[in-house]
Amino acid sequence: MPDSLDKCFSEAKINSLTLRNRLIKAATFEGKSPGGVPSQALIDFHERFGQGGIGMTTIAYCAAESDGRIHEHMMYMHEGIRPELERFIRTVQATGAKVSGQLGHCGGFTKNLEFSGKRPLGPSKGTNALGLTYGLSRIAEMTKPQIRERAQIFGRAAGFMKSVGFDAIEIHFGHGYGISQFISPKTNKRKDEYGGTLENRMRFALEVLAEVRKNVGDDYPLLGKISMTDGVPGGVTYDDSVDIAAMLEAGGIDVIICSGGTSSMNPMLLFRGDSMVPGLIKHEKSRLMKIGIRLAAPLMFKDYPYEEMYFLEPAQRIRDRVQCGVCYVGGVCTNDSIRTVMAAGFDFIQLGRALIFDPDFPRQAQARDNYKNGCNHCNQCAIEAPGGIYCVERPGNFA
Ligand SMILES: Cc1cc2nc3c(=O)[nH]c(=O)nc-3n(C[C@H](O)[C@H](O)[C@H](O)COP(=O)(O)O)c2cc1C
Ligand code: SF4
Repeated sequence: MPDSLDKCFSEAKINSLTLRNRLIKAATFEGKSPGGVPSQALIDFHERFGQGGIGMTTIAYCAAESDGRIHEHMMYMHEGIRPELERFIRTVQATGAKVSGQLGHCGGFTKNLEFSGKRPLGPSKGTNALGLTYGLSRIAEMTKPQIRERAQIFGRAAGFMKSVGFDAIEIHFGHGYGISQFISPKTNKRKDEYGGTLENRMRFALEVLAEVRKNVGDDYPLLGKISMTDGVPGGVTYDDSVDIAAMLEAGGIDVIICSGGTSSMNPMLLFRGDSMVPGLIKHEKSRLMKIGIRLAAPLMFKDYPYEEMYFLEPAQRIRDRVQCGVCYVGGVCTNDSIRTVMAAGFDFIQLGRALIFDPDFPRQAQARDNYKNGCNHCNQCAIEAPGGIYCVERPGNFA
């Protein structure tokens, strides 16, 4: 019987794009774009993954517009950073890796000091806990023209990304950000055609997808990352996610990435492993926010022990439902896990923390039959530290 590890290290296509293997660097907002400009450190970081053998890397967070940023040190897609992005993409492509950008919008989840409007906009009015000490605590409900405009903003940003040279775009449909605020009944209380049934709550997501597709063309590779569950009562459920995936497939997505949880309501479901609370308190500058994190911790930061392939079962349900490509993400640290995921019929695997721990993961895994990554899921890299993310166990990795 052929070893499914061979499948992982065989070429694979996403629409018109060919990757040298099926391992993709997951989007991990790097915190290396001060003032919203991609830095040399960001280029070096991704170049290192290319040298380590990854099939494609993903730059996060590529906001669709300035007000789509969670804070002002995130990139947004505009001409002002074209030279830096072009240099970035050329450098990484020279390693043989392809480059994807995660295109997203924060919606009502922001603490952006450069926010231009009066209030962040979401599907329904509500409270933005992240913006409490930034004068952005209230979310205003979007009008229909604003919804239409935002979908077009996504489309224009995608057109820009293609023109800059990104090989692919990953639309962020999950994790509690702008699009998933529409998908989730927890944050979408609208009474019009954008709220209520899952079909209605998916309307904005599908309008975004259509606008993006219109701007990049039929043969351009589009991936979409979803949350299979919000992990909170009254939120999106695993059952919903199978239908969400089918709707995105019908809307023309090429690959669905099956994640879960939300940064705003239940982040530990997304990561598993050690709590991020002590690190968050340490790096938070505002005393009020420190108190807020302490108070919210028992509700928001639940205990989910780490297990390998912790999203396998619900992701398998999506694999079984759709014909388009499906990418697994969540706790792949060993060759045995790669084999299991590949044998289960997934087309791609995204790697987050394991690559931050060992950027040579792909080359090592290909060379050594029993490769086992040493990331201990302490989750300290997931906390935005000055200078950007790094592995606390191996701080010299990207030096
Ligand atoms: C430092 C860090 C930053 C992250 N930032 C993002 C992000 O910007 N967008 C996103 O969709 N997921 C983000 N994630 C989640 C990862 O993409 C991935 O879904 C998660 O880490 C699970 O995969 P893993 O077990 O391979 O790490 C981040 C994860 C880490 C560790
Ligand atoms: S800091 Fe290092 S060991 Fe800890 S979760 Fe991140 S990559 Fe893994």
